[in-house]
Amino acid sequence: MRRKVVSANWKMNLTLTQTVEFINEIKDSCNTTDTTVVFYVPAINIVPAVEAVKGTNIQIGCQNMHFLDNGAYTGNVSADMLLAVGVKHVLVGHSERRFYHNETNEHVNKKMLQAAKKGMIATLCVGERLEEKEQNITHEVVALQVKTALHGVHRRHLKNIIIAYEPLWAIGTGKTATNEEAQEVCRLIREIVCEMYDISAAMNISIIYGGSVNKENAKELFAMKDIDGGLVGGASLKPDFSEIIKA
Ligand code: PGA
Repeated sequence: MRRKVVSANWKMNLTLTQTVEFINEIKDSCNTTDTTVVFYVPAINIVPAVEAVKGTNIQIGCQNMHFLDNGAYTGNVSADMLLAVGVKHVLVGHSERRFYHNETNEHVNKKMLQAAKKGMIATLCVGERLEEKEQNITHEVVALQVKTALHGVHRRHLKNIIIAYEPLWAIGTGKTATNEEAQEVCRLIREIVCEMYDISAAMNISIIYGGSVNKENAKELFAMKDIDGGLVGGASLKPDFSEIIKA
């Protein structure tokens, strides 16, 4: 049985006080044992967030980390810094990092290798842009992203990897991929994992969908064969986020 995962990406939202208040408001309804629930909060709010979820099964994650151990990298956070405050989950290669911070597939690969080396649980984000979808090259784009990101990542680290398929045109736009479109790309990703590793690796890895997931569409998306949950932005900042976890 694959692990179900529903993660909240709060992006650059909520101050310290708002973070703690919101967590206190939703934590009981989001607490579950059969689904991995992760709140990806801005780095500055990680420590109070970790404190606020104590006593629940909710995990706190970081939205990004550097691929090196330490050094002169202004504005960055390292794996050791995260581990030191009890944070194992990290988002790698979110499209907003790729787009606004020029992160390439090669950077993403270095981060995946660093996460593996440090024993962190990485959610690798992949997905095509609207132009790429229109050019009918979604499969090629996603295949390249997955293959490059996992290059050199040993099979034993796969248990600490989740893959999120997030088509860029669906992020924050209110436009969701159809259930079939999302399923098709998640199936493709599983096939690539099978090609790169083996069938059991492919069957065991959790692959989730992101891009305008909400409480109305979550149930049908998560019911698709190769979709094991979701990465949720906008709708995770609402008190009824727990409805998506239940879905
Ligand atoms: P959205 O964001 O749910 O607001 O579309 C998803 C994401 O960026 O992970």
